[in-house]
Amino acid sequence: MPDERISAAAKRVFIALDFPSAQEALKLAEKVAPLGVGLKMGLELFTSEGPALARDLAGRGDLFLDLKYHDIPATVGRSVAAATRLGVAVMNLHTSGGEAMVRAAVEARDATAQETGATPPGLIGVTVLTSLDGDDLRAVWGDSADPNASAHAVRLAERSQAWGLDGVVASAKEAEAIRAACGPEFLIVTPGIRPAGADVGDQKRVLTPAAAIRTGASHLVIGRPVTRADDPHAACAAILNELAEALA
Ligand code: C5P
Repeated sequence: MPDERISAAAKRVFIALDFPSAQEALKLAEKVAPLGVGLKMGLELFTSEGPALARDLAGRGDLFLDLKYHDIPATVGRSVAAATRLGVAVMNLHTSGGEAMVRAAVEARDATAQETGATPPGLIGVTVLTSLDGDDLRAVWGDSADPNASAHAVRLAERSQAWGLDGVVASAKEAEAIRAACGPEFLIVTPGIRPAGADVGDQKRVLTPAAAIRTGASHLVIGRPVTRADDPHAACAAILNELAEALA
């Protein structure tokens, strides 16, 4: 497989650094970042280690800051500006925070990138958490809430696009409908990825890397199949090979 195909595949992958300490996260990053993959820093690692580690990781590869902002527009706008200054490549927020919050985030991202001369990071929406089903939605939003969590997710993806976001995080279950609704350029970042034969863990619905791309995902979030592998570098390289073949 030519190197440029592997590099193109690597640009579509974020390895989830779900670790409690900088030491463990950096150890893993050192093994996989040379392959050209992106890295994902979530709430656990950010809460433990903070922006200094985010800045460090952003210097090693594309960093997806997965903090799922959801607050009043002014607070989210200032947080997005701060994350833009850290040099992250992608960050996310809950689209259910509403139009004013989403538009404040987009405005703050653009203004900060212009001010610093940095490439504006991608801003993507969280639609419906995959841990919620129709009963949960009704318990939170009342009996009139759409009991179909998938339909709700697709509608929120359309709102995300209309309000200026670059894409959404979505389960493989919804990727196809979102791709059809939002067109070819919209980013669809999909977790729940397992190479054939890998341990499923607590994920309920999984797809192989190649199948997720065929379903409409533009980017994949991959955690344990790489981070808990005996040889994370080799596991990641094998996934990139599979992906490069699917993209060819
Ligand atoms: O280890 P695994 O590949 O299951 O990790 C998936 C990553 O994607 C984790 O960081 C998890 O928090 C995240 N994620 C997910 N399902 C969602 C949203 C995010 O698994 N619906």
